[in-house]
Order: sequence, then structure tokens, then C-alpha cells
Amino acid sequence: MSSRKISDPQLLEKFNELKRKNQEAMLGGGEARIEQQHKRGKLTARERIELLLDEGSFEELGRFVMHRCRDFGLDKEHYLGDGVVTGYGTVNGRLVYVFSQDFTVFGGSLSEAHAEKIVKLLDLAMKNGAPVIGLNDSGGARIQEGVVSLGGYADIFYRNTLASGVVPQISAIMGPCAGGAVYSPAITDFIFMVENTSFMFVTGPNVVKTVTHEDVTAEELGGALTHSTRSGVTHFSCANEVECINQIKKLLSYIPQNCEDDPPRLPYTPGNEMRERLNNIIPANPNQPYDMREVIEEVVDGGTFFEVHKNFAENIVVGFARLAGRSIGVVGNQPASLAGVLDIKASIKGARFVRFCDSFNIPLLVFEDVPGFLPGTDQEWNGIITNGAKLLYAFCEATVPRVTVITRKAYGGAYDVMNSKHIGADLNFAWPTAEIAVMGAKGAAEIIFRKEIAEAENPEAKLAEKVEEYTRKFATPYRAAHRGYIDEVIFPDQTRIKLIRAFAMLENKVATLPRKKHGNIPL
Ligand code: HXC
Repeated sequence: MSSRKISDPQLLEKFNELKRKNQEAMLGGGEARIEQQHKRGKLTARERIELLLDEGSFEELGRFVMHRCRDFGLDKEHYLGDGVVTGYGTVNGRLVYVFSQDFTVFGGSLSEAHAEKIVKLLDLAMKNGAPVIGLNDSGGARIQEGVVSLGGYADIFYRNTLASGVVPQISAIMGPCAGGAVYSPAITDFIFMVENTSFMFVTGPNVVKTVTHEDVTAEELGGALTHSTRSGVTHFSCANEVECINQIKKLLSYIPQNCEDDPPRLPYTPGNEMRERLNNIIPANPNQPYDMREVIEEVVDGGTFFEVHKNFAENIVVGFARLAGRSIGVVGNQPASLAGVLDIKASIKGARFVRFCDSFNIPLLVFEDVPGFLPGTDQEWNGIITNGAKLLYAFCEATVPRVTVITRKAYGGAYDVMNSKHIGADLNFAWPTAEIAVMGAKGAAEIIFRKEIAEAENPEAKLAEKVEEYTRKFATPYRAAHRGYIDEVIFPDQTRIKLIRAFAMLENKVATLPRKKHGNIPL
């Protein structure tokens, strides 16, 4: 720091004026613009960064960058930083790169210079192996700049794609994100949205009205609720910006810095790992639902289950957790929703999560209770074949440690798909309540004993007898265990200790895939 003092009062005044102007410009135009942003119910770009990063850790890059366009009045207005604050810092002591769009500067719109700042950050992140967090609040391509800003978006999409699987990429939508701009967050690993102040759509309500004559509000079309429940575009819907940023920090605590790194591990002191409550979770009636979340929460370290995509495709549950301090990814069929059936949305949700975990060395734990794939024209015509194959493919390809616990039903193709040993899982456990068969006993009996039942004096009694016979033979884990498809039939209360030991045993797993450029997942 310089110790020189300015003694000339005139010079001092000039200096202070310049400093104030500079600061205003850096903040996107000073108090008035900050106030406007607050009136919109939103924090400023810098406030968001302050909330996200460890105190005093932010190092800004490109603070003096300005736009170059001189058309449509852009020669008269200039802001240092050009509508995006970029740099690096730490979250809980771990390096992250962050960009935060400043809506107070031309609506956070993306100019050539703005794009270059984001590109620089993505390049640095890839070289240095740390996550990138994008805080999005933008009116899209800067209209005055034309194709130059479109080019800027493409430069970002390209980097997002190259960085995919190299470093975790997280997008928070904290304002508008419209048009082609949506595709950068879409390529990243996780999207967070803030309720009531953010929206994402490819075409806004006005264009929708013109083209399809539908009347729809921005919120209905692309708000947090829509994307967290209907489309699945967003993984997290947050009540406000503070919650959003806290959730991002929580997510970071489960994931590694890059694809060569291991996820963070917390200290663990062994204790009583028996979980008696698990013995009473499966209802006596096999058709009665229960909440798989209860099983997950009981097995993993207390209070560590962090659910992803919570309100989308609720028939499958996915999320991060810790087991004896190790970070794991959990996938569970959810009998409490659609009986835990696999449908198109559940398959896509599960597949995307499995691929994230596999990209970033996070072991996978699967809880299985699945009656099969959802039948019907809606599913068939919308491609359950292709979409179901995504989940199958994702599991087949995963080389991280993989363990399955079959709690109840494992029927049909879904038995294969849900991380069976046949597709590369390392260990499969089953509870004594497991039913592993080609299909449910009634359906099976009706097909294979059709003739016998039809010819019986009392077809109903015959059917019941055959159902009973099939159930006795197949609705157990033991046929599969005899073959070694199930490594061990365990009591529910032992599940936690068995899994702790299993993942410890698999800690140094090495598995490689055949040499190839890349696979061709059925997209
Ligand atoms: C330049 C923009 C801008 C943009 C907003 N502004 N969007 N300037 N380019 N894309 C400016 C406004 O002129 C205004 O400037 C200030 O930002 C704030 O905008 P308001 O409209 O006053 O704010 P609000 O009412 O909150 O509305 C926000 C908005 C709206 C919904 C985002 O501004 C809007 O619809 N903007 C256009 C969105 C759009 O069509 N973008 C292009 C999408 S196509 P002043 O000076 O008045 O404060 C695209 C292609 C990408 O992005 C393709 C990639 C492949």
C-alpha cells in the first residue's frame, strides 16, 4: 500500500470524485441501480457473491472490462465490468470460480465482453480443477450487439460442454434467463431457481401467445415451481436467494473439486450401527406403500440426506448423503409414489444423477423396490423404451463403487436396470422381504397357468392356488441368492453396518471401460 498522501485539496477532491464514480460504475451505476434491484426483490451481483464466498476470499478478475459496441446509444453508457462480476474465492476453504450477472447493467444482458469474462473463468476452472458457479440474472443476448453476443453465448456453451465431467458446474437462476441463454445452465450439472423472482424459457409468454394462442404468465411458463415439478429443468427450488446460496454451499460439501479428486470426507467415529427401526418399515401387505426416504435417512449418517430433484418424478428419490463420513449418491425407488414404478421422468432423473456421481467419483447406493416399468400408451408413445434405456445405460457405464439393497420388489426389466450385479454392481444385498421375479405373482400365474385355470372347476380357487405357488417359489430373495445374484440376505437392522463395510471394502476399486471415443447413450 502506498503511504503517499494527497495534500492538494483540489486534487484530493478530484481523486475522491473519480473513486466514487469508479465504485458506482463497478457496482453497475451506484445507489439508484442497487435500489432498483432491491425493489425487484433481488440482491445485487456483488451481494450474492459476498453471501456465497468465505469472507474476504473473493478475488475479482476483469473488473475494468467494458463493452465495445458503439451502436444504438451504447457509445454513451459504459460500466466497468460490463454487467458481470467474475472471479474466484473459497467456499468453506475450497476454491470455486464464480460469475454473477448484474441485472442493473443493461438488464444483465450478455455482450461480447461479458461473454469473454465468463469464458476466461471456465478456462481457468478447467485448467485448475475447481467448480464453477454461475449466478444468472440476465435479459439474454445484448440486443444492440447482434451476432457478436450470439457468438459469445456459443463460446460459453462450448466451454460448458468441454468442462462437463471435468469440474462440477452449478447454475443459480436468480432473475430472467430467457431464449438461448437457457442452454448454458442446461448443460451444467445442477440448476437452482429462486421462487417468484426467476424464470427460464426458450420463448416468452408473448411469443407463446402469438404462435400457440396460449395465455400463460412468465411464472407459469418457466417459474421455479414449473421447472421443479413439471419439466424437471431445475433440481432445486428455493424460497429466496439466501436459501438458494446456502443450498449451493451444501451441495458443494458433498462433491469433489474435479473428476480426479475424491469427494470430501468427514471424520467418523464408529458407534452402534444397528438400526432396529428398519425392521418395521416394510408393511405386512406387499401392496401397501411406505416412504423410501425413511429407509434412506435411517441408514445414512443422521441428517445428511440432501435430496436432489425433490419435487420431480417423485417415484424415484435421488440425493447425496454421508455414510460413515463418506460422500455417496443415493438412488431409491419410492413406493409412496406410483408404487415406485419406473416411468420416463423417473428414468431420466435417475440417469442424470447416476452419471453425475460417476463423473465425480461419488459411490452409488441403490435402494430397490420397483414393480416394473409403467405400462400404457402415454409411456410407450413418449418413448419409455429410449428413456428407460438411459437409466440402464447410466448404471451399466458407471465405474464407481456400486451397491444395491433390495428392500421389497425387484420385478422384470427393472430388476436388471436398478443396479443389478449383472450390469456391474459390486454388491447386491436383499432384505428377507425381497421379491425377485419376472413379474408379480398374479400376473405370472394368469399367464403360465392360463389353461389349467380356465379348465378348473373353480377357476378362482385355482388361480389363488397358483398365485400362492408362484409366490412361494419366486417372491423371495433366495432363488437369486442361490445363484449368487444376491451376495447376502441381510436383516434390515444390519443394513447400515453392512453398507459401511461394503463401501470401505470398495474404496480402492479400479474399473475401466473398453477404449472408445465416447459411448452413445440413448438420448
Ligand atoms: C439489452 C436489455 C436486454 C437485452 C433487458 N435490457 N434485456 N438490454 N439487451 N437483451 C435492458 C432494458 O432495456 C432495460 O434498460 C434494463 O435492461 C432492464 O430491463 P426492463 O425491461 O426494464 O426490466 P424488467 O421489466 O424486469 O424485464 C426484464 C426482461 C425484459 C423480462 C428480461 O427486459 C426483456 O424481455 N428483455 C428482453 C429479453 C430478450 O428477448 N432477450 C433476447 C433473448 S434471445 P433501461 O435502460 O431501460 O434500464 C437470446 C438469444 C440467445 O438471448 C441465443 C443464444 C444461442
